Amino acid sequence: MYPPRLSPHAPLSYRSRAIDVASVVAGSGSYLPEKVLSNDDLAKFVDTNDAWVRKRTGIARRHIAADDQVTSDLAIAAARRALESAGMTAAELDLVICATATPDETFPATATRVQAALGMERGAAFDVQAVCSGFVYALSVADAMLKSGQARCALVIGAEIFSRILDWEDRGTCVLFGDGAGAIILRGEAAAEGDAPRGILASHIFSDGRHHDALYVDGGPASTQTAGHLRMDGREVFRHAVVRMAEAMEAALETAGLTAENVDWMVPHQANLRIIEALAKRLDFPMERVVVTLQDHANTSAASIPLALDSAVRDGRIKQNDVVLMQAMGGGFTWGAALLRW
Ligand code: ACO
Repeated sequence: MYPPRLSPHAPLSYRSRAIDVASVVAGSGSYLPEKVLSNDDLAKFVDTNDAWVRKRTGIARRHIAADDQVTSDLAIAAARRALESAGMTAAELDLVICATATPDETFPATATRVQAALGMERGAAFDVQAVCSGFVYALSVADAMLKSGQARCALVIGAEIFSRILDWEDRGTCVLFGDGAGAIILRGEAAAEGDAPRGILASHIFSDGRHHDALYVDGGPASTQTAGHLRMDGREVFRHAVVRMAEAMEAALETAGLTAENVDWMVPHQANLRIIEALAKRLDFPMERVVVTLQDHANTSAASIPLALDSAVRDGRIKQNDVVLMQAMGGGFTWGAALLRW
């Protein structure tokens, strides 16, 4: 029976193979701003040092948007590269979802700027706000819309300029983040028969708003009428991160009827190498098959997973039919996981 009847306490999730449309990846793209800020560069104006940042986080450098760039500029560049890799034109798209916590403006949605720049005159475009979990949330929403027939071809973007909401005097947070964008194109296709269907196999998203104070921005249009700055209790976030993401990825594997041994690549949210290593250990998953880009990108929030995905596709690691497990956690708290066969 579709849609499946869920208990009121069940997470927002579903078993994708229960219906006959699969959300298959047609292409990917990413964009990083030109300017690179190393840990040593940071140490010139913040009381920090390269050794501390590398040891505690694994981060060595990050990209920072130019003063005249806005989030949609990054998103548009990533989207164009995704279309190019898919061999498609924007005329084939009918859905644009942009996951971002740093939109160009309070409204309209950054996704509508992308839609216009690509020359799309139809379909729907909107933003999803789940901070670092945004890309997993956006994938989940796009998958549901493709499967329900509301769209046929979706551009799913994660794009952020976190450098604009950092308190550059707070060494506990400003060293952790960077700017960038990544995108994938999902096409609704008749689901393949048999044991190895391509496309999104499962997605699970969760949130628990009681954890607001551990990670938030102290501004906004309705509170301070300013953009505000990111505030974080790093230890509290760390404490929850491994448990929550592990819970989500185990749920995704179970839903798809797979185990960690069936996974070719883990592409986690890139926040902290110690969190990523703990997640791999939890699944008894070899680090050689975990895509890690945070040394070069830092934490780019909703952009981190699609940036890592695109890097691994372009350097030849992720190939068609590989099973990819993605997981993320962010402010809210929000968290989730998605499993797909590339
Ligand atoms: N450079 C040098 N020293 C620093 C810096 C810095 N940039 N930042 C903090 N310190 C100092 C502190 O002042 C403290 O000094 P003290 O002992 O003299 O008081 C010491 O280092 C230890 O500070 P802690 O905050 O306890 O360090 P911790 O080991 O917890 O590491 C970190 C901090 C890296 C933020 C860690 O808690 C973490 O990664 N948490 C997860 C947060 C995260 O990933 N957030 C991203 C958003 S959510 C997400 O994406 C999952």
